[in-house]
Formats: sequence, structure tokens, C-alpha cells
Amino acid sequence: LRNRKVLGIETSCDDTASAIVCENGQILGEHSISQQEVVLRYGGIMPTIARDLHEINIEKVVDKTLQNANLTMNDVDAIAVTTKPGLIMSLMVGTKYAKHLSKKYKKPLLPIHHMEAHALTARLVYKNIQYPFTTFLISGGHCLIAVVHSVNRYSLLGKSIDDAPGEAFDKLARRLKLHNLSKYRSLSGGAVVEDLAKNGNPLAFNIPEPLLQYPNCNFSFSGIKSYVTNIISKEELKFDILGDNILPNADDICASFQYIITKHLCRRLQRALEFVDLKKLLPDKNRILIVSGGAASNNYFRHAFKIICDEVGYKLFVPPPKFCTDNGIMIAWNGIEKLKTNIGIYNYTELDSIYPM
Ligand code: KG4
Ligand code: ZN
Repeated sequence: LRNRKVLGIETSCDDTASAIVCENGQILGEHSISQQEVVLRYGGIMPTIARDLHEINIEKVVDKTLQNANLTMNDVDAIAVTTKPGLIMSLMVGTKYAKHLSKKYKKPLLPIHHMEAHALTARLVYKNIQYPFTTFLISGGHCLIAVVHSVNRYSLLGKSIDDAPGEAFDKLARRLKLHNLSKYRSLSGGAVVEDLAKNGNPLAFNIPEPLLQYPNCNFSFSGIKSYVTNIISKEELKFDILGDNILPNADDICASFQYIITKHLCRRLQRALEFVDLKKLLPDKNRILIVSGGAASNNYFRHAFKIICDEVGYKLFVPPPKFCTDNGIMIAWNGIEKLKTNIGIYNYTELDSIYPM
């Protein structure tokens, strides 16, 4: 049997990324260009700027990927591209370029759902994970728990009713002006807050846990965000903080914030896993939880999730950060999974019905 190769293209957010992955899971080449520096400069993602940067970088990224893999487009069997969800203008750049390649080289196109790709990456990283399994996706744009039945079939158990945890970390880092510290300049808000929290007291500030009165598996982060913003304003008055100066107790604030978010994530996670058992949604041998998304690289979360999983008898898998944050590999791998199951494959002559959402 031939070992088919898929080129994956990802432009849903602030990374222009691509990779070539084979059916046997081998990663032949990859390349990405991050917009993190620009995002930090503007204090968030500006959709038109993100689009422009994707447009500038997309061809370069794909060419470099092919070069790294020592391949040409003719060697590739199909092209996978993120078509949803994400910033529409950014998705458009990747989709347009993928369609162009598909037509030019007469290769099938595989539209990919970004969150499905996050969920399926674990099957590339750990070769023996079988369907069905549970997944917990925590990133800058999403927070959800689902049972993954197959490549395109999911049962959603809970999701955020407002913001995402990664975004809350990003906002806190920005509000505390932590990127003014040179050692944090090029790190994500999440990584910065996690690092500072290591020196802080998680019980220094008592932040209320959200949604306690709702017995479901949904999440909320906007209340925590505004509560912490208020704390910071008060502390700044107390310490007479002006301009670019950083609060002396920023570490306590970060630790308390991370603690309450962890508590919230864990409470909902435990409820979800207990629900899965109650409804017998997984056979016993598949009691597996895959945590993915950019915020999965948080070690404090990871330790807490391990405690929950041990408690309810689940095996926890957290792919290395490289696979958890947005990347081209996960898109290419989702393409492989689609090729293998013959699902969602579009011929290069029938691309008109594919558009980003
Ligand atoms: O999955 P990702 O690369 O992009 C999407 O949002 O889809 O995730 C990026 C997010 C950012 O919000 C970033 O602050 C967050 O993941 N993140 C973290 C950590 N590292 C990255 N959040 C909490 N703790 C971390 N250590
Ligand atoms: Zn993502």
C-alpha cells in the first residue's frame, strides 16, 4: 500500500503554518511564521493586519515546507486546509491558496475544521489511541469537552458560554503590562502568567468561581476577567502604580487567577467524565482524555487534570506544546484521517462549494 502524503495549511488565527505528513504519521516537513510579535504590539489580533501578513507569508511558508520535505507539489497526494472556525479574512487566505494549488496541480482538497484537527492530533502523536475517546480543548479561542466517536463525529459535553481561557490569560498579561519585562517580551500571555504565578500565592486573592449554580459542563471566563481587572485597579491605587511600572504583587494576582481558572476547569472536567461513565459513552478500555489547544501547555493545569483523571480512572494524554498550539501538522494529519476514511474529499473540479466559515 502506498504511503500517501498530505500538505496541510493553517491560517485561521495568527500563525501561517503548513506541514506535510504521511499516512504512517511521519512528518516530512513543516514551516510556520507567527504573528505573535505584531499581536503583542497592537495588544490583540487586528483582522485586516492578520490577513495581510498571511497573504505576505503563505507562499513562502508552503514553499519552505516542500523544501524541508525535499518534495514538490507533484509528490503530494492531497491538500488539507482549515476552513473553519476562525477569523474569516485569515481563513480566506489559506483557503484561496489551497484551492489555487488544488487546481494547478490537480490534487483533491480536504476542508478541515480547526478544532477537530486539535482533537485528532493525539492519534498522530500517540499511535495507539483508538476511537472513541474524550477530548478537552483549551485555547485562545475555545474551551470545550467532547467525546470523539470518529473522524467527523463528536458529542459535545460542554463549552464556554463567553470567552476562552487562553484569551483570559492574554488579557491579564496585558493588563498587568507583563510584556514590558524583557524576559517575557516574546512569550504568549499564557506562558507569562503561568511563569509569574510560580512565585505567587494562589490564595492571596479570593476570586469567585463561575457557574457554580449551574449543574452542567459549560465554562465561563468573562466574570473572572472583570473581577481580576477590578482587583488590579484597586492594587494600582494602593501601590501608586503609574505608567509602565508593574505591580509588586503581580505574582500573587497571576497565581490567584490561575488557581481559580484551574478549579473551574477541573470541576467541569470531572463532571463531564462522570457523565460519560453514567451514560456509558466509552468502553472501559477507552477511558482516555486528550487535552489539547494552546493552553494545554500550562503545567499547573496539567497537574490538576492528572489528579482528576486518576480520581475517575482515566488515562491522561497531553501532546507536547508543539502539537498543542496551532500548527500545520494537525491540519495535514486530519487530512490523512479523512483520506483513510474517504470522508470530505473534494475533487479539484468541485471547489466552488468550499468557502471559509
Ligand atoms: O491553540 P492556540 O495556539 O491558538 C488558538 O487559540 O487556537 O492557543 C493560543 C492560546 C493563547 O491565548 C495563549 O495565551 C494560550 O494559548 N496559552 C496558555 C499557555 N500557553 C499558551 N494559556 C495558559 N497557560 C499557558 N502556559
Ligand atoms: Zn487552535
